[in-house]
Amino acid sequence: MSLLPTTATEVQHLLIPVPEVEPRSAIPRQNLRIPGPTRLPPVVLAELARPMIDHRGPEFAAILRWVTARLQYVFQTTSPVLTYPASGTGGQECAIVNLFSPGEHVVAITIGHFGNRFAYIAEQYGLQVSRIALPWGEAADPSIVEARLHELAPYQGVLLTHNETSTGVTNDIQALSTVIRQHTSNALIVVDAVSSVGCMLMEMDAWNLDVVFTALQKGLMCPPGLMMVAAGPRAWGAYGKNYVKKSLRIWLFPHLMR
Ligand SMILES: Cc1ncc(COP(=O)(O)O)c(C=O)c1O
Repeated sequence: MSLLPTTATEVQHLLIPVPEVEPRSAIPRQNLRIPGPTRLPPVVLAELARPMIDHRGPEFAAILRWVTARLQYVFQTTSPVLTYPASGTGGQECAIVNLFSPGEHVVAITIGHFGNRFAYIAEQYGLQVSRIALPWGEAADPSIVEARLHELAPYQGVLLTHNETSTGVTNDIQALSTVIRQHTSNALIVVDAVSSVGCMLMEMDAWNLDVVFTALQKGLMCPPGLMMVAAGPRAWGAYGKNYVKKSLRIWLFPHLMR
């Protein structure tokens, strides 16, 4: 018998050698004190230890219905809340691709790193982004925002961060929404609530917001990997008109997958 490789598969194995990497060392127990991922409460850890179920089966469908109703309560909205496999950055992308078309003008109110990331993602999808960049470490002053919005009109949407995690500063979304609505009644108000939902008040409907998204690993105290986006009636209207829709996170997708 020949010791040389003969079949295509044997040759392929020689071409792709087993990688030489250092042995995995055990990860020491950590007591995370960062904004997220947070420590997991015992009840969450216990759920994670349960046996696997079919992610396309009836048990999962029932869990999703149960969770979605509770998410509406957490967002304080009667609008649909969609859940996707993604981290919070996926929520930022999801909002942009479903609401706007390339070339449309949006205003991004930024007070830190995550506000900048939101604006950057919008730019990557070809939106014309005007930034109202305010000092890091301070909340956006509604009167300054009002004056700048006046100069920047017209615009189709305003991107906001509820709690700017990079500086730990919380914007007064209710006050900012009021100012935006006074100025233009139909601009879409889109709120990154990744580090606020679950640990501070979010009143999506009462504050007249169009899209709010969050992620699992902060106020909701679960592992990272899912993000949830709530979309109100004006947002669904814009969804029907825009033409980016080149993402697995388009809002139609969960319905197609039923
Ligand atoms: C306000 C905010 N937006 C977006 C993100 C990005 O989320 P992720 O790191 O889960 O992608 C974070 C993460 O810390 C955040 O705090």
